[in-house]
Amino acid sequence: MNRNILIAPSILASDFLQLREQIAACEAAGADWIHIDVMDGHFVPNLTMGPFIVEACRRATNLPLDVHLMIEQPERLLADFARAGADHLTVHVETCPHLHRTLQEIKSLGCKAGVTLNPATPTAMLEPILPLVDLVLVMSVNPGFSGQAFIPETIAKVAAIRQSLDALGSPAWLEVDGGMVADTLPRMRAAGANVFVAGNAVFKHPQGIAAGVQALREAGA
Ligand code: DX5
Ligand code: ZN
Repeated sequence: MNRNILIAPSILASDFLQLREQIAACEAAGADWIHIDVMDGHFVPNLTMGPFIVEACRRATNLPLDVHLMIEQPERLLADFARAGADHLTVHVETCPHLHRTLQEIKSLGCKAGVTLNPATPTAMLEPILPLVDLVLVMSVNPGFSGQAFIPETIAKVAAIRQSLDALGSPAWLEVDGGMVADTLPRMRAAGANVFVAGNAVFKHPQGIAAGVQALREAGA
């Protein structure tokens, strides 16, 4: 099995009536992290889940919980998400006027500090804080919904961030999120990404969750 890449199924595309079983199926299929999309109906148009769901996921798996905060003023809720069992807390650069402080706070809570940016946000916004982060997430769709089409212009952003991380000697994960399927994944992999979030490609795979995880794993081989 190709372990050079990490697969992070996004439960936004799961069947919430079967959340425990579907997380277990991801784990059994060799998924590496569970990605949890938190949306507030303000920063993004959709409204999804909060610390309560993170806490439920924590009881369902030992896999790292990769929490993607698509919310305004995320600093107000960081402690709640950490307490609920989040392992990684990723904030949007667009929502954090004091990004350096926010990332420090995430670390002080004992979580891995992640930062992400929308497709229209330039990578230069990240340069000053790159030495500080454990994870960079590049959005390859406009955040808000599962099942959207991949935006190919984001490939160049991954390549640019890969170059900057390598120049720093940073071991940070470079994760991509949105529209990841068997033919988009290798393009992001070639650009330097090593963690792949996938909603529909895992939970809506016609042959089931295990086949979905496996197809992505093979695509990244
Ligand atoms: C979009 C979310 C994604 C989404 C990915 O705002 O951040 O994590 O669930 O779903 P797919 O893989 O279906 O594009
Ligand atoms: Zn996400």
